[in-house]
Amino acid sequence: MTTPATTHFDTAARDWDQRPTSLQLAAVPERLLAQLPLQTSDHVLDFGAGTGLLSTAIAPQVAQVTALDMSGAMLQVLDEKGFSNITTRQKDIFAGLPEQYHAIVSCMAMHHVADTAALLRAFAAALHSGGRIALVDLYAEDGSFHGDNAAKGVQHFGFAPDSLRALAEQAGFVDIAFSEILRLQHSNGRAYPLFLMTGRKP
Ligand SMILES: C[S@@+](CC[C@H](N)C(=O)[O-])C[C@H]1O[C@@H](n2cnc3c(N)ncnc32)[C@H](O)[C@@H]1O
Repeated sequence: MTTPATTHFDTAARDWDQRPTSLQLAAVPERLLAQLPLQTSDHVLDFGAGTGLLSTAIAPQVAQVTALDMSGAMLQVLDEKGFSNITTRQKDIFAGLPEQYHAIVSCMAMHHVADTAALLRAFAAALHSGGRIALVDLYAEDGSFHGDNAAKGVQHFGFAPDSLRALAEQAGFVDIAFSEILRLQHSNGRAYPLFLMTGRKP
């Protein structure tokens, strides 16, 4: 399926890891992993994996990572990194997740999905009992972070923690916690804080 978002990410893929934003986001995996208990036998889903910011950091610690993304070009860059236990899957998350995971992680992908409640329900359905979420995205902003929001497929100008917490609770998650994980310095001179939301499926 070709959408404004897939066109944007397919075009941006080759240089994705060198963008100033990606260079700053490189600090995220270590901080996220400090909040996410994992076992070497675990299978982890990286939603909106892109070129593998999270997947490549998690893969050495677990048995298997599934890197899901709609953009084939982003996943091609990830495949070229040569991780034997990362499986890339080019598909929309709402096309169905055939496997069950011990954890679902994501960085900067949720704001591209219009129906956040349905996304969190899909996460809950795809997790083993006791499975965890660790999700990173922008706190609510004024739309200035991406600038050209329509062309980049932006559906939400970040998230208010209280609203997101309520949706996560409705999806069945417990032990939901928020923390600021990074402040992104933008070329527009402003700083945009990112949250890490963690939670557990009972
Ligand atoms: C801003 S990029 C983030 C990539 C990577 N996580 C990172 O932090 O560098 C968002 C990614 O989410 C993917 N994406 C957006 N909506 C999606 C959906 N419904 N299903 C699968 N992937 C999706 C996009 O194709 C894109 O690669």
